[in-house]
Order: sequence, then C-alpha cells, then structure tokens
Amino acid sequence: MDEQQRQQQERDAADAIADIRDGELATRRRVLKGLIRIGYGAFALAFAIPALAIKTLSLEELTVAAGDALVYATGDRSGQPVTIAELSAGSGVQVFPNGKADNPNNLVQLIRLADGDAPESFVAYSAICTHLGCTVNATLEDDGTIACPCHGSRFDPAAGAAVLNGPANRALPALPIRVEDDGTIAVDGDFDAPVGVQ
Ligand code: FES
Repeated sequence: MDEQQRQQQERDAADAIADIRDGELATRRRVLKGLIRIGYGAFALAFAIPALAIKTLSLEELTVAAGDALVYATGDRSGQPVTIAELSAGSGVQVFPNGKADNPNNLVQLIRLADGDAPESFVAYSAICTHLGCTVNATLEDDGTIACPCHGSRFDPAAGAAVLNGPANRALPALPIRVEDDGTIAVDGDFDAPVGVQ
C-alpha cells in the first residue's frame, strides 16, 4: 500500500466514525424529544385529571331540587321559564330545572292533562326511559300517552306514567311540581324513584 492509499483509508475511516457519531446524535435528539413530549403529556394529564374529576363531581351535584324553576330544554325559548298559559290541555314539553341542563338525567317531561289551573292538571316525569335510558318523545301520542322512540314503550301520564306497553317494566319517575303565583312552574320535591335504567 502506498502512502496515498493509506491516507485515503484514514480519511474513509474518519468519515465512517463521523457518520456513526451523527447517527448517535440524531438518535439522542429523537429520544430527548420523545422524553420532552412525554413530560408535557404527563404535565397536561396532571391538570386534566383533577379538572375532569371536578367536572364529574359538579355534574353529580346538579340534580333536581325543590324550588328549581322549570325552563324549556330546547327551541327558541331554551332556558326560559315555562308558564302554564303556554301549555294546552293534552300537550307536553321537555324542560330542565333552571341552570341544571348539563346533567341529562335532569330532563323532565312536563304535561298538562286538562284545562283549568288545578294543580293536578300539571304532571311531570323523568324523560329518561326506564327500559334502556333513551329520551322519550317530547310530543305526546294522539292518545295522550308518552312514547319512547327506541323500542316502543308507552307510559300513561294520567296514571303516574305507568307502563302501558313494554319492554319498559317500570313507570317513569314522577317529579312533584307546583305552579307559582306568576304562572311559572317549579320543582316541589325529588323524583319518587331512581331515574333511568336500574
Ligand atoms: Fe325506551 Fe327501550 S329505551 S323502550
């Protein structure tokens, strides 16, 4: 091997070592970036988990309570109080206790059974079907019953929302209500049974 060849071999070896170092450096950078990402993820998780827990707890606390005004659940008047003058006999509307719409189990089916202002003309039931938890139809059927769109259960609002047709085997929980002096409607107690699927 002449001197020129030896020098070329030395340059090739040096280049190879430099390539290996570059490769190691790139690998280290990738590992470091990965660790930083994991660190950020853990940091975000550390805040996200308590925030989620707080949100969950606050949802659990937002249950129906006596004195809550009943407000429209949907439509142009969503969030505004329902008055008895707006309900015709044999009609129903879905409402939430004011400020508690975040909890779907608070959805209530409010129904006017008859004309007149007698308190018994107004009834309210959970709008969550006791079969598998679907929301019952807001509009009453032609025969005045409450229907669930999922599997066809029917409930009788004039008889404590008793089951007329299954597969539900439990009445919709009733919610005591009262008519206030200004014609709005307020909750007057708790559901008489657990809401939804049991
Ligand atoms: Fe209502 Fe099945 S969820 S009938």
